[in-house]
Amino acid sequence: MSSIAAANWQEARNLRLAARLGEANPQPPSLALAREGVLRRAVGLTLEASGCSAPLGSRCKVETSGGRWVDTEVVGFAGDRTYLMPTADLEGLLPNARVVTTRRRGEVAVGEGLLGRVIDSDGVPLDGRGAIRPEGWMGLAGTAINPLMREPISQSLDVGVRAINALLPIGRGQRIGLFAGSGVGKSTLLGMMTRYTAADVIVVGLIGERGREVRDFVESTLGVEGLRRSVVVATPADRPPLARLHGALRATAIAEWFRDQGLHVLLLMDSLTRFAHAQREIGLSVGEPPTTRGYPPSVFAKLPALVERAGNGADGRGSITAFYTVLTEGDDQQEPIADAARAILDGHIVLTRRIADAGQYPAIDVEVSVSRVMQEITDPAWRARIRKLKQLMAAYNAQRDLIAIGAYQRGSDPLVDEALARWPAIMQFLGQDVTEASDVEASRAALARLLDDDAHLKVRTQETAP
Ligand SMILES: Nc1ncnc2c1ncn2[C@@H]1O[C@H](COP(=O)(O)OP(=O)(O)OP(=O)(O)O)[C@@H](O)[C@H]1O
Ligand SMILES: [Mg+2]
Repeated sequence: MSSIAAANWQEARNLRLAARLGEANPQPPSLALAREGVLRRAVGLTLEASGCSAPLGSRCKVETSGGRWVDTEVVGFAGDRTYLMPTADLEGLLPNARVVTTRRRGEVAVGEGLLGRVIDSDGVPLDGRGAIRPEGWMGLAGTAINPLMREPISQSLDVGVRAINALLPIGRGQRIGLFAGSGVGKSTLLGMMTRYTAADVIVVGLIGERGREVRDFVESTLGVEGLRRSVVVATPADRPPLARLHGALRATAIAEWFRDQGLHVLLLMDSLTRFAHAQREIGLSVGEPPTTRGYPPSVFAKLPALVERAGNGADGRGSITAFYTVLTEGDDQQEPIADAARAILDGHIVLTRRIADAGQYPAIDVEVSVSRVMQEITDPAWRARIRKLKQLMAAYNAQRDLIAIGAYQRGSDPLVDEALARWPAIMQFLGQDVTEASDVEASRAALARLLDDDAHLKVRTQETAP
């Protein structure tokens, strides 16, 4: 027999065998084979294993010296090397440790039992109140909704904050960024919204913030009453980057499940910047190039992938209205994450240090904040008032320095004169104590009273009359 015939015969037999094996085991052979590999390298948080072929995003377990197993996720590969990152603390790793691939991808346990609970990025309860019984499972990465099937934003949502309700009206299913430097009041404003927003369920993702803040948020901000309708997913700054990433994804997946039950969900993510930082750490450690001011390209792919999951459901089934805080370092509004976030969100509320330093809270900079769904949820008279107030504030702020030293001449600009006359009332309108709520109707009426009331004008004109 010639060698060519022998080779064909062997090949045919292998194919027959493979077909029969395929019928017996419905898994693709590549997954069924080579499930266990060996740890070759561990530098920083990146682990390299050889011999295990596992799909991107799947979970592997690495054996440690104590006989425990550390959970990791496949974040990349090169040749036969698989790059893994831990989702928990790395301790007791050994060279040549066993790496076992699992078919699990990230799954999120969901159910009513989550209400009132505080969990970590793996879904483990942090509040010491026992296990949570899951009613179903959602994918960590979510499933995209066809944009044409999404319900358009058409209803306004009461967030309980006067300046936002009246001047930057929020629609159900809108995604808004809360932009501010550190310590300007982002978390406090989110806290007010958790207490006063008209939502069925509130999902809070505390991502990469200080550990102390988690307790503060749960005990003081939410309180017993607020926690009852909330789910808190907390992954503080000391957790590995993958855990921080998963914290944001888990919070979003939980919000998606409640939305799919037909409920109106408020999703609060503090902060989107820390989510981007986590992805930056992951990208850089698997060798992505830092292309935009130290951020690798994957960061700018992950941001819209996360944000796009919020919004209205298909065919009127529930909604997720989402607020993402964005840290603008040194109050730099052009920072790459802030820039990317502004482009993908349906509006941004800017908090300014100058206003906070003057003791004016919430420190919302009305002039530069924008709600992109305003057109759909306001009437022309309302929009005219918003425009008028913005004009008055812009006119006043342009002359701020002259006014401060008393060098502004009344009568030089009628708009500035009017702004001066109304200024105390405007400040009173914008300021709001954290314990006070103001619904949409009340806020709108207050705006109308503020601008339609001519009493101060008359008094001022008489005062300044010769
Ligand atoms: N509405 C408010 N009324 C009174 N004080 C406030 C208000 N909002 C913020 N503050 C003050 O500002 C401080 C910082 O607020 P907050 O923690 O909300 O800021 P942040 O922007 O979340 O900060 P970080 O960037 O550190 O997370 C608070 O401790 C409080 O003193
Ligand atoms: Mg904060």
